[in-house]
Amino acid sequence: MQNSCLAIILAAGEGTRMKSSTPKVLHRVAGLPMVGHVIETAKEADVDKRVVVVGVDSRRVKTAIAEIDSECEFSIQQQQQGTAHAVLTADTWLKQNFEHVLVLNGDVPLITKESLSTMRQKLRQGADLVVMGFETDNPYGYGRMLVENGQLLAIREQKDASDEEKAITFCNGGVMAFNGRVAHEVLQAIDNNNAQSEYYLTDAVELLHNMGKSVVAHKVDKEETLGINNRVQLAEVENIWQQRRRKEMMLAGVTLAAPETVYFCHDTEIAPDCTIEPNVVFGSGVKVAGNVSIRAFSHLEGATIGKGAAIGPFTRLRPEAELLEGAKVGNFCEVKKSVIGQGAKINHLSYIGDASIGAGSNIGAGTITCNYDGINKHHTDIGKNVFVGTNSSLVAPLVIGDGAYIASGSVITKDVPAGALGIGRSKHVNKDDYAAKIRGRNAATKARRTREKPD
Ligand code: UD1
Ligand code: CA
Repeated sequence: MQNSCLAIILAAGEGTRMKSSTPKVLHRVAGLPMVGHVIETAKEADVDKRVVVVGVDSRRVKTAIAEIDSECEFSIQQQQQGTAHAVLTADTWLKQNFEHVLVLNGDVPLITKESLSTMRQKLRQGADLVVMGFETDNPYGYGRMLVENGQLLAIREQKDASDEEKAITFCNGGVMAFNGRVAHEVLQAIDNNNAQSEYYLTDAVELLHNMGKSVVAHKVDKEETLGINNRVQLAEVENIWQQRRRKEMMLAGVTLAAPETVYFCHDTEIAPDCTIEPNVVFGSGVKVAGNVSIRAFSHLEGATIGKGAAIGPFTRLRPEAELLEGAKVGNFCEVKKSVIGQGAKINHLSYIGDASIGAGSNIGAGTITCNYDGINKHHTDIGKNVFVGTNSSLVAPLVIGDGAYIASGSVITKDVPAGALGIGRSKHVNKDDYAAKIRGRNAATKARRTREKPD
């Protein structure tokens, strides 16, 4: 198949060092299971078919991956007999004459599409196998790359390496790109005649070399090859991912005052000319249009923000919060599943849930939409140019018409027609000179208590 590419993604490992009931490859980096990063990158590098090798008892892994990539296929490795054995479980696809076959690791999520594209380029230029390699001061545990005159002769695993080979610092990053015409044949030729009695994928190098084929290395930065085996490495990879994305965001026109304190999700979209203050966290599904200001200590998830809107400091936007152009949500406000109209303002200390607020409305401090009766959620519909006085409880279901006023401190339980004033509280009264009476009564009580307890 002309220009076609198959990727086989190894994910059958148990990941016991994560000490988790969640399979290793489902632990998240930037909110996406680590294997999802590998799948997404493969797609970006124009991989046509993606097959993930999973272990037995992999229902959770399959379900999670299907949500990320509905076209992904699976092969099952019953027993862990080595990386070549794992790849061969996908032989149904290996036999299908793809032009290129990539082998990726589900627990190495920082691989870039540029590297995959370069490796595929090298295949087009005549290589039959391209192996991703990296330099390290501490090569212990990695397969060592034996290179001579630009050709990769073999990869020697730690347990099989001589002292001389152990001194080599150029190591196998675990990612390979095969010419599709040789992949299946060479993988089948691999035996398990080694220190671990495993079928080593890395043996493909020596076999192809001995067949007179061209095998080359593609050197990348070590961080691209970082694998995750425990939660310390998970945090390291998360940190590198965040650094990369912060840089991309800034280069794409987003101002980050303190980049190292802003956390993005894998799917965060922010248009140019937005400004993000320190300590802002993005959960999944956030889209921000241009010229938006997000002030310090805000947390956003599943929110859509229109042009020129202003958020924070200390704002929480929850899923399906939608701010239209120029809307403003200020400090200590929470918004969930609500549309905030153009130029509308919720400046302080409010909870707005299951509501729609028309353009130009002003929601006073301490306003709460009482959306939940203990069983069902109800909607609050606030029209345009409505003024809601401070500390109002709006008991849903409720409709407040355009231009209405709500008296502060109200508990509003009935619809308020357009243009009306809604008041839902007892009337204020003054009792003249009553303060002195209260003070007199308090003084008498205090004197009596002192008499009754002399010591
Ligand atoms: C492998 C390479 C080594 C390289 C290193 C980079 C081989 C023989 N060695 O070593 O040269 O430097 O990666 O990290 O390939 N897996 C399966 N089924 C198996 C065995 C492994 O799915 O039967 C999966 C694992 O889950 C993992 C990946 O393959 O995702 C690599 O396996 P791992 O055991 O980590 O290989 P290493 O010994 O680290
Ligand atoms: Ca490994």
